[in-house]
Amino acid sequence: MTGVGSDSAPAGSLRTALVQQLVAAGTIRDERVAAAFAAVPRHVFVPHAPLEIAYADDVVLMKHDQAGVVISSVSQPSIVALMLQQAAIRPGDRVLEIGSGGYNAALMRELAGPRGAVTSVDIDPEVTDRARESLDEAGYGDVVVVQADGAFGVPERAPYDRIVVTVTAWDIAGAWLRQLRPGGRIVVPLRMRGQTRAIAFDLVGDHLESRSATVCGFVSMQGAGADYERLVPLQDGGLAFDEDQEGEPHPQYDVLTLPAEQKWSGIQVHREEPLLDLFLWLASKLPGYCVLSGREWAAVATADSLAYLTSRNGKDGVHIELGCRGHGPDAGELIDHMLDQVQSWDAKHRRGPAFQVHASDAVLPPGFHIARRHSYITVTWAE
Ligand SMILES: C[S@@+](CC[C@H](N)C(=O)[O-])C[C@H]1O[C@@H](n2cnc3c(N)ncnc32)[C@H](O)[C@@H]1O
Repeated sequence: MTGVGSDSAPAGSLRTALVQQLVAAGTIRDERVAAAFAAVPRHVFVPHAPLEIAYADDVVLMKHDQAGVVISSVSQPSIVALMLQQAAIRPGDRVLEIGSGGYNAALMRELAGPRGAVTSVDIDPEVTDRARESLDEAGYGDVVVVQADGAFGVPERAPYDRIVVTVTAWDIAGAWLRQLRPGGRIVVPLRMRGQTRAIAFDLVGDHLESRSATVCGFVSMQGAGADYERLVPLQDGGLAFDEDQEGEPHPQYDVLTLPAEQKWSGIQVHREEPLLDLFLWLASKLPGYCVLSGREWAAVATADSLAYLTSRNGKDGVHIELGCRGHGPDAGELIDHMLDQVQSWDAKHRRGPAFQVHASDAVLPPGFHIARRHSYITVTWAE
C-alpha cells in the first residue's frame, strides 16, 4: 500500500530530500521506516502549508487554545521517525496511536502492512475530522479514527501490540496497560520533574520496563489525564514542582533578591551535551528538587533558601564548567549537596536512567519513585 492520493512530482522530490536528510543525520536508521517516509505524502496532512513547509523537518502547528498555547500539531518528522523506531512496529501488528493528525497513523499503516490494523484516537473532533479526510485522500481508508479521550484507550479495538502516545503524558493510564498484549510495547512522551522523554516500555508480566528513551517535546494531554506543574513565582520566572511534590517546602518570598553564594565543581561538560540526565539524577537524590523555570535548570528549595545549577565558560571554549549558586540561610549546605551529586553523576552515572512503571506500590523495585495518579514510576541508574 502506498499513499499516492493528491501526490505530485514536486512533493515527491521534496519528500525524497527529507528522507535523505533524515538518513544522513542518522535519525532514520531503519530501512522500513525510510520506506514509509518515502511513501506517505505528508503535505496531504497539512493542507494549509506550502510544500516547502510540509517537507521541512519541523512541526506544523495546527491549532491554538484561547490563551495562544498550541494544542494540536502535525509532529516534526525527526521525532516521528525516532519514536517509530522505538516502537519497532512489525507487519501484522495491531497499533493504537493516541493523538491524531493522520500523518503518523499513515506511517504506522505502512509499517503494520495490510495484515495489521491501525487505530488513531484524538480528543478533539476537529482533529479527527481532518485526520479522517486526509487519510482517505492519501489512500489510507482502513486506518480507524476515533474521537474520544485517549486516557481510556480504545477498548473495542484492543488488544494492541503497540501503543504510541503522541501527546505529553504525566502518567501511564491503567487502560493502556490493560489494552496492551503481553510482551507488547508502548512508546510515550512521559513528563517528570520538568522534562519529557519519549520512553519505549515493554510490558513484562504486570509492569513496564524501559528499552530506550529520547528527549522530546509535545503538546500537553487534555481530558482525564491532564496534569499541571505548580509554579511558585519569583522575580525571574519561578520554581516548578510536580503534582506529587505538593507537600515540599519552598521559599515564601523572592529569595533571588537575597545575596548570592556560588561554588564551582571543576567538572567540565561539552557545551552541547544535554544535561537532562544530570537534572533527573539530581531530582532522584535531592529533596526539594524543582526546576528554575525561565532558565529550565535544576534547582533545590527549602522553606527559605534556594540553590540552582549554573555554568561558566570552560578552558577551551567548547566545554562549560558546572557550578551551583544559592540564596538564603541554607544556601551553603544546599550548594554542597548539589555539587556532591554533580560529582557522583559525573563519576558513576553518566550512562543514563532506566525506568519501570507499576500499577500499584505493593512491590516496587529499589530506586527513585514518582507517584502518579494511576501508576508508580521507578527511576534507576546503572553504575
Ligand atoms: C502532537 S498532536 C498529534 C500529532 C499526530 N500524531 C501526527 O500525526 O502528527 C497531539 C494531539 O493530541 C491530542 N490530544 C490531547 N489530549 C488528548 C487525549 N486525552 N486523548 C486523545 N488525544 C489527545 C490533541 O488534540 C492533538 O491533536
